[in-house]
Amino acid sequence: MSNEDTTPIATEGCACSNRRTVLRGSLAAAAAGAGSLALSGCTQQLKEENAAQKHHTGGDFTEVMASADLPVGESTQLDVDGRTLLLHREDEDNVTAYSNVCTHQGCAVEITERDGQTTYGCPCHGSHFDPVTGKPYGGPAKKPLTDFQARVDGEQILVKL
Ligand code: FES
Repeated sequence: MSNEDTTPIATEGCACSNRRTVLRGSLAAAAAGAGSLALSGCTQQLKEENAAQKHHTGGDFTEVMASADLPVGESTQLDVDGRTLLLHREDEDNVTAYSNVCTHQGCAVEITERDGQTTYGCPCHGSHFDPVTGKPYGGPAKKPLTDFQARVDGEQILVKL
């Protein structure tokens, strides 16, 4: 008879739950040293999952603006299909598109400048997001902005809405 506690733990997508189950059992004390290492890896995995970028899985690519209206290195804000998107032209062929909904508490992120660089800044609590990666830096936001697939297609910029 096993005395392991097999109560499920809410760790969606994390294989760490099996390790935790083992640690709850009578072997937990004996395995404390190895368990610390396992939990350390688990904690890192959970952190990475928490910081994982959310991708908008939309329907069709839609023309949102003329590519000539977004010069390389510039950003713009667009209202499209009931959403506000922040677009940034990385180079001639690449453009990024992110939701303007702050991942901290949902305020509207805006195009701003910080240390001479274009950034997406949240006016509520000061989080900033990288226009190329969507990742937060500074401020309380921990998750990247939700990204939309976007591309330059000749004369047009397309976003998958
Ligand atoms: S809602 Fe954006 S930083 Fe808090």
